[in-house]
Amino acid sequence: MTVHPAIYTRTAVMLHWLIGVCVLSQITLGLWMITIPKSPPGVRAGWFNVHKSIGITLAVLILLRFAWRLFHRPPPLPATMPAWERTAAKANHWLLYACMIVMPVAGYLGSSFTKYPILYFGIKLPQWGWDSPGLKELFSQVHYVTAGIFIALISIHIAAAIKHWLVDRDGVVQRMWFGPRETTVERIAPGEGAVQGANR
Ligand code: HEM
Ligand code: HEM
Repeated sequence: MTVHPAIYTRTAVMLHWLIGVCVLSQITLGLWMITIPKSPPGVRAGWFNVHKSIGITLAVLILLRFAWRLFHRPPPLPATMPAWERTAAKANHWLLYACMIVMPVAGYLGSSFTKYPILYFGIKLPQWGWDSPGLKELFSQVHYVTAGIFIALISIHIAAAIKHWLVDRDGVVQRMWFGPRETTVERIAPGEGAVQGANR
């Protein structure tokens, strides 16, 4: 008999870790690059362009993930999880998705309302915006404030994962990993007990 355990699909796991690692790197790069001095000219702008290029690529991956997620329900959480934790986990996940969408959109809009074109890995993107310091400032503020909220949500998210992994040991972290997708349950004659967990 084959049992399908409550575990995310390989596509969900792959997208989670690919985007997770890129987002963490992108946040680190963003926080670092804003400390680069404006002179000598070019260095700061060069790193800004790297950040913009990665950010636009990430936006495409995030959109794919979000669209995929809308049509795929996550596996049910373990029954041992208290109601408040389920609600908190759901809220954390949807807020993380919201930040993943707002961040690149605000970054792109902020960069569009300047006189500088956006270079996507060296290629000049069509410039439809205009030079507007007010709009640039507005979207930069949204980018900045959302970055703070995003960092707080990710910290809570990682702390919760560590708690489930080391304290609760309820398999929640394993749900988001590349383990076996199926579990074979071998049934032995009644009275002899049952052996579970011969994984494929
Ligand atoms: C998931 C995607 C992104 C993440 C996580 C991210 C993260 C960050 C962080 C943490 C900062 C430093 C804090 C701040 O000053 O706002 C920053 C700055 C910045 N980001 Fe992003 N970013 C992303 C996408 C983008 C995109 C797509 C663009 C433009 C095409 C962009 C343009 C900028 C610019 C120009 C700054 C310097 C500050 C400013 O002028 O607003 N970012 N980003
Ligand atoms: C070391 C870093 C990380 C760890 C250990 C981790 C761990 C996990 C685990 C175990 C789950 C499954 C939770 C469940 O079973 O309900 C999960 C889901 C999720 N994670 Fe992470 N994560 C990390 C980083 C990130 C980052 C950086 C982001 C944001 C870009 C993120 C966004 C999400 C989202 C949105 C979900 C919900 C997936 C869904 O149901 O659609 N994670 N994470």
